[in-house]
Amino acid sequence: MYIKTENTIRVGMTDSGEHININPSMACRHGMIAGATGTGKTITLKVLAESFSEMGVPVFLADVKGDLAGMCMPGADTEDMKKRIEKFSLADAGFEYHGFPTVFWDLYGKKGIPLRTTISEMGPDLLATVLGLNDLQTGVMSIIFKIADDRELLLIDTKDLKAIINYISENHKEFEADYGKIAPVTLSAIMRQVVALEMKGAEQFFSEPAINIRDFFATGPEGRGVINILDSSALINDPTLYSMFMLYLLSELFETLPEVGDRAKPGLVFFFDEAHLLFNGASKELISKIEQVVKLIRSKGVGVYFVTQNPSDIPDGVMNQLGNKIEHALHAYTPAEQKKVKAAAEGLRENPEFNTYETLMALGTGEAVVSFLGEDGVPGIAKKISVLPPESQMGEISDGTRESEIKGSMLYSKYYEAYDPESAYEFLKRKGIEDEEAKAAALKAAEEEKAALKAKQAEEKEALKAAEKARREEERAKENEQKAVKRAAKSVGSSVAGTVGREVGKSMGSSFGKFGKTLGGNLGASLGRGLLSTLFKS
Ligand SMILES: Nc1ncnc2c1ncn2[C@@H]1O[C@H](COP(=O)(O)OP(=O)(O)OP(=O)(O)O)[C@@H](O)[C@H]1O
Ligand SMILES: [Mg+2]
Repeated sequence: MYIKTENTIRVGMTDSGEHININPSMACRHGMIAGATGTGKTITLKVLAESFSEMGVPVFLADVKGDLAGMCMPGADTEDMKKRIEKFSLADAGFEYHGFPTVFWDLYGKKGIPLRTTISEMGPDLLATVLGLNDLQTGVMSIIFKIADDRELLLIDTKDLKAIINYISENHKEFEADYGKIAPVTLSAIMRQVVALEMKGAEQFFSEPAINIRDFFATGPEGRGVINILDSSALINDPTLYSMFMLYLLSELFETLPEVGDRAKPGLVFFFDEAHLLFNGASKELISKIEQVVKLIRSKGVGVYFVTQNPSDIPDGVMNQLGNKIEHALHAYTPAEQKKVKAAAEGLRENPEFNTYETLMALGTGEAVVSFLGEDGVPGIAKKISVLPPESQMGEISDGTRESEIKGSMLYSKYYEAYDPESAYEFLKRKGIEDEEAKAAALKAAEEEKAALKAKQAEEKEALKAAEKARREEERAKENEQKAVKRAAKSVGSSVAGTVGREVGKSMGSSFGKFGKTLGGNLGASLGRGLLSTLFKS
């Protein structure tokens, strides 16, 4: 009979009735659920998640197909379920259909409470890894963050990141003295990657209010751990975003949570469905980052479980960290596939009672070969089991149920509305406008100064001209005066001489007639002038 115990992670039962559970103190040593399509991976994930929740351990699930959403509702009897309940004698062991406390999340804010973070929180290293930057570009990314930090510019969204990249590019010479060489060509390369990330819909993710990772850690009314369900139906269309997000969450948890070492049970457990999407086409740097984070997060009390179709989807470095393995049926029709199944079989500690390779290919739906870590951390011998049925609803939920779950959450009001605070983009935009205005004002002032100078010069020129005119007029007046004096003198002389001459002529005789008179006058005048000049000289 299956006994529902509080302190064990129930998974299933062997044909001989042995209960096979994951040891809670080894649950942070991570795990894997593999198997071909339709073999029972998602239900196994649900069973594990339910068990963790029952122990008061919160869970985070990436729901790729929407079929994990049913965890908020009680399961229902079907012929198949009745058979399984009977097979495990579950009715007497406390099995009851019930829903679990759930919180729905969605990066796009449609099928769950919006889950966001900021560029600053993501940090330069992780962002560089996600953007696939090379070493040089990664170095420049750190400088971008440093400059933003030094100037107290908040980097919230991709708009902020682009604004500061442009700002540094335009003023790169200014920054080089303090931060070293920042080639505009490197900044352009980073910019292109940021734009590419934006085009994948990342700007939805980068916004305030950023998630407080501690909100994942909650317990429901009956002390059950909350099951956080991230709708990933749209997210998995872009593996880059999916892996970026997964890495971000794990890194954030690593930074936020205290070191706890080995503990009786995990603080939080992650399940990543369709995990091959995280690794397919991922750069070497990204994979090694995932490997590193998975390795380190164990000491923070976080367990990570990857769900995938074939164990070969998981890179060796990551696979080596996964202590608890559940392998559903694998198919092998080609030699290449057989090789993969062989490798999967060899990854499990051999059980002399059955051939793992053969068994893996012959498993029915809901059956698995499992190997879990013992208390000493040593992998247990492979066991063939039937996985328990879940207590919550299998499959999807209606839109109405989802909506009331979302709006009924205490976290809804905290996160549903995005806001765009004053950050780098707004600051630099305003600064740009102010700089332009200052430039325009300086230009206007310079022009006015120039015009004033020109006017002053023209005025001075006019004044000079007027002075010159006055001087010339004065000169002319003087000249005229002198001329007038001379003329006056002349006129005195000629009138004296004329008179004298005329009188002399007259006295010489008026009998010469008119001609004689004139001649006499002229002669007289001439004589008079000679006489006068002689007089004046003397
Ligand atoms: N432990 C189980 N208890 C009850 N039913 C199960 C169990 N495992 C599998 N099933 C049945 O098998 C069906 C397929 O299982 P599941 O959805 O888990 O497969 P899967 O491996 O996740 O498939 P896919 O690769 O398409 O996602 C379930 O809908 C359910 O009816
Ligand atoms: Mg599935």
